[in-house]
Amino acid sequence: MKTLIFNGSPRKNGDTAGLLKFLTDRLSGEYKIVDAYRCNISPCLDCRYCQKQSGCAVKDEMQEVYEYLKDCDNVLIASPVYFSELTGKMLDVGSRLQTYYCGKRFRKEDSGLKPKKGAVLLVGGGDGKPEKAYETAKTLLRLMNCKDIFEMIGSFHTDALPAKEDTQVLAGVERMLQFFLETRWA
Ligand SMILES: Cc1cc2nc3c(=O)[nH]c(=O)nc-3n(C[C@H](O)[C@H](O)[C@H](O)COP(=O)(O)O)c2cc1C
Repeated sequence: MKTLIFNGSPRKNGDTAGLLKFLTDRLSGEYKIVDAYRCNISPCLDCRYCQKQSGCAVKDEMQEVYEYLKDCDNVLIASPVYFSELTGKMLDVGSRLQTYYCGKRFRKEDSGLKPKKGAVLLVGGGDGKPEKAYETAKTLLRLMNCKDIFEMIGSFHTDALPAKEDTQVLAGVERMLQFFLETRWA
């Protein structure tokens, strides 16, 4: 089983990082983490290359992500909620998935990506309203050919309780891990 994980947090030992440690300690198979604040991935520049050709004109670390996406089984988007959305850097990385949208819309091509399972793990200080972030994450997951997307798992009172001590979210992560293991796409 191969899992691609996007970490949308800038904090090395923050809430998202704590939950990802809990998750990766229990995750079967191999995984790759894309650290949105530290990777060498620039945002989409809307150069329109992918309206006519597959792939992306920007040759940076996103090329490795496109390769991994071809045959991985699961994708997880883990991010803090900023202004009720995914973080800016997470959206920057996500914008590079535009090539899959253009494949469908303009080039009329199949992405060739193996069908996957998707999941979203969010944290918030306590201002609530993570629904928009979850919707955006689901849009990104669908672009990556996630056919089955797990319910939103999140810890939304991190100002008062660090996410890694939130027993409800830890139980949610355990269920997410089970979801990844169940009925795999052929
Ligand atoms: C710029 C900014 C915007 C934020 N907006 C929200 C928000 O809309 N809702 C919320 O619940 N928390 C918000 N927060 C709080 C973070 O989501 C929260 O502290 C989170 O636990 C940080 O996660 P991390 O430690 O993984 O980076 C915001 C924080 C920052 C820095």
